Formats: sequence, structure tokens, C-alpha cells
Amino acid sequence: MTERIAAIAAREILDSRGNPTVAVTVALDTGVTGCSAVPAGASRGEHEARERRDGGKRFGGLGVRRAVANVTETIAPALCGLPAADQAALDARLLALDASPNKAKLGANAMLGVSLAAARAAANAARLPLYRYLRQSLFPSATGWPLPTPMANILNGGVHAGWSVDFQEFMVLPQQRSSVEQVRCGAEIFHALGRLLARRKLPVTVGDEGGYAPRLPGNEAPLKLMASAVRAAGYRLGRDVRFGLDPAASEFYRGGMYQLRSEQRSLSSDAMIRRYRAWVKKYPIATIEDGLAEDDWSGWQRLTVALGKTVTLVGDDLFVTNTARLQRGIDQGVANAILIKPNQVGTLTETVAAMRLARRHGYGVAVSHRSGETTDTFIVDLAVAGQAEYLKAGSFSRGERVAKWNRLMVIAEQVAD
Ligand code: PGA
Ligand code: ZN
Repeated sequence: MTERIAAIAAREILDSRGNPTVAVTVALDTGVTGCSAVPAGASRGEHEARERRDGGKRFGGLGVRRAVANVTETIAPALCGLPAADQAALDARLLALDASPNKAKLGANAMLGVSLAAARAAANAARLPLYRYLRQSLFPSATGWPLPTPMANILNGGVHAGWSVDFQEFMVLPQQRSSVEQVRCGAEIFHALGRLLARRKLPVTVGDEGGYAPRLPGNEAPLKLMASAVRAAGYRLGRDVRFGLDPAASEFYRGGMYQLRSEQRSLSSDAMIRRYRAWVKKYPIATIEDGLAEDDWSGWQRLTVALGKTVTLVGDDLFVTNTARLQRGIDQGVANAILIKPNQVGTLTETVAAMRLARRHGYGVAVSHRSGETTDTFIVDLAVAGQAEYLKAGSFSRGERVAKWNRLMVIAEQVAD
């Protein structure tokens, strides 16, 4: 049965930082509905699709009433009557309606809300869990259910934590076989880290992604602390747990140099690469995301030559879930994995295109949340459907982060049956 879109509603809700964001409900002619809520970044890439914000006084300019009106007044009339299961046609219609190079007209927040809610409605109509529906409709050639390894950001810095340190994210990557054991391992290390900080009289308050955010002397101190926490929790470094870094280097790249305020020094691209190479020898670092800035292509090439054989080098601000930028990376031998954030590009179809392109060229895939999140868990189902190697969803505190890990454990239980 072809179920068609009958109505689209949208509203302004709050994200995990208390800022407005867009929530959408798509209703089909049979009465089946699907909802979504759009996340928002803080360390956004320069080349991301633009979200629509109202400006003015309300919410310090961050209101999304215009984006909501774009959904109800412009998008809804154009999409009603289309089959909900034809994601490609829906997203093509959205792109035609916007017709701007960066989604600035309708807003990527308005477009993504509709795109994801339609997919959910179609999954509900098909009476399938979302991940199974996405697999069947968007990744039909994938077989089996290998589940993504959690990338859990237990120590926050940079713009997510008042610049406690310069590097934005220090992650643990639990290596156990089951998702349930991985989540347990990560949570136990998180708590061990909390006890360790408390003993040193450091604050145990958390940053935007739920990791601790103590002010520390420089960017290596978090790695030392995490190594101690792993041991204190009874796990073996390297064997049971690896580390991941997201320096988010674009955020402190000024005038061709990487300005590390917590260390009062500034490093060239090559000095940054030397630092990563030294750290990879000292700590079990498996992934480095945005180790260099989004437009430092030549630095990225040298980084990839230096570490690309042994470390997963993930492009986030570098690629912004954009196939054109990813293709440039592939052509120039830059990075070997992509971070996938649906709201960087604005539609599900374009998101999946980036995942497919990565796959075709042997690039790894990490599906990711944003620092401003809601309890929507769409990304977890997307990661599972598309067989992403990693799921990046923050720490083991803050409900909007924990919702993702809990969803992963539910899916793990279902696919094991
Ligand atoms: P953002 O940061 O969601 O604030 O952009 C996340 C990241 O850089 O991975
Ligand atoms: Zn990042």
C-alpha cells in the first residue's frame, strides 16, 4: 500500500542547551505519524548547510519560528500527497523548494526535520523498527548486523566546556564484543574518572556532551587522567579500551597556526602532526577527528601520510557530510573516515549519499550527534542501518546522550534474536 503524506506539523522546542530547535510531525493518510527533532552544533563547520534562525530579541536571536513557518507554509503544501516511502523524491522536492547552495532559504533545520520525520512515518507505516526500515530502503545491499562501537566523549573541552582545555573531545572506545558490555565499560570508566577528579579536588560538573570539564594544564593532561580512569575501573588500556580525540582544530586555527591557549603556545600543522604521532605511541589512540583545520588541506595530506595507516582520521568540519568535500578528500588522499551528521547537510538522502561514497572508497563511517541535542535517537538507527563503524553520542550522563546509548542496547537485543 502506498501511504501518502497528508499533513506536516512543526513547532519550536528546546534543545539540550535550552536553545530553540525544530520538531516535526509527518502524518500519513492512514493516520500513521512520524516525529523528529533537529540537533544543533556549537563548533560548526564553515561549510555546513545553514540553519534558519530568527535573529532579534527572542532567545537571543536563536528562535526558529521562521524555520517552523517554512515547514508549515512552504514545505507542507509541496509535499502533501507524495508517497512517504519515496525518500529520494521527498528530499529532491525539498532541495528544489530551497534552491540555494547552502539551504539558507528554507533552513537546513526545517528541511532535515521534515526529511527525518517522513522516514520515521514510513517506518511506522511499514511496522518496522526504524533501523530495519532504513536498511531495507536505503542500504539494501548491506547484510548482517555488525553494531557500531561507541565513541564516548567523557572529557569535554573547547567550545563545549568554556575552553577548559583547547581540544574539544577526549573519547573512550570500548572494545568489548557486545554493545551492552561496551556501554557498561564506558560508564564505569566515566564514573572512575569522576572519582579520580573528586580526589584531586577538581570539579565534576559536565560540559555540553555530558563529559567532565575540569580546567587542566594543557591538552595531554586529559589523556593521562583517562588512562588512570581506565585502570581504576579495572580495564586494560588498548585491549579493552582505546581512545579517540576530537581536537576540533578549526576552532583554534588563526593565521595559519594552531593557538593552544591552555599551553600558551601556538603550533604549525607539522608540529601538530608531530604531537599526534608522539601521542599515538604513548596512548592507545585509535581515532583522531578534525586533528587539523577544515581548510588546511595540505596539512591534512601530510597528517594522512604520517598516520593514516595506523589511525582512523575522521573528517568532521573538514567534510561536513558533503559528498563534494568528501570526494575532494578522496582525490587528494586526505583522511580515511568521515563523520556523518545529518544536519550538516540537511536531508536524509544526501546524508546516505555521503555514507555510501565513503564506503565505496574504503573510508570509515562514524555517525554522530551534535553538542546541542534532543532525545531523538534517529542517528542510532541510521548508524546501525548503514553499518557505521562508530556511533558518537557523548558521555554517560545527560538524558539526551544516554537516550542514544539506551537505544543502541535495545537494538543490540533485537538483532541478537
Ligand atoms: P558540534 O560539535 O556539534 O558542537 O559542532 C561536535 C563535533 O565537533 O564533533
Ligand atoms: Zn567534531
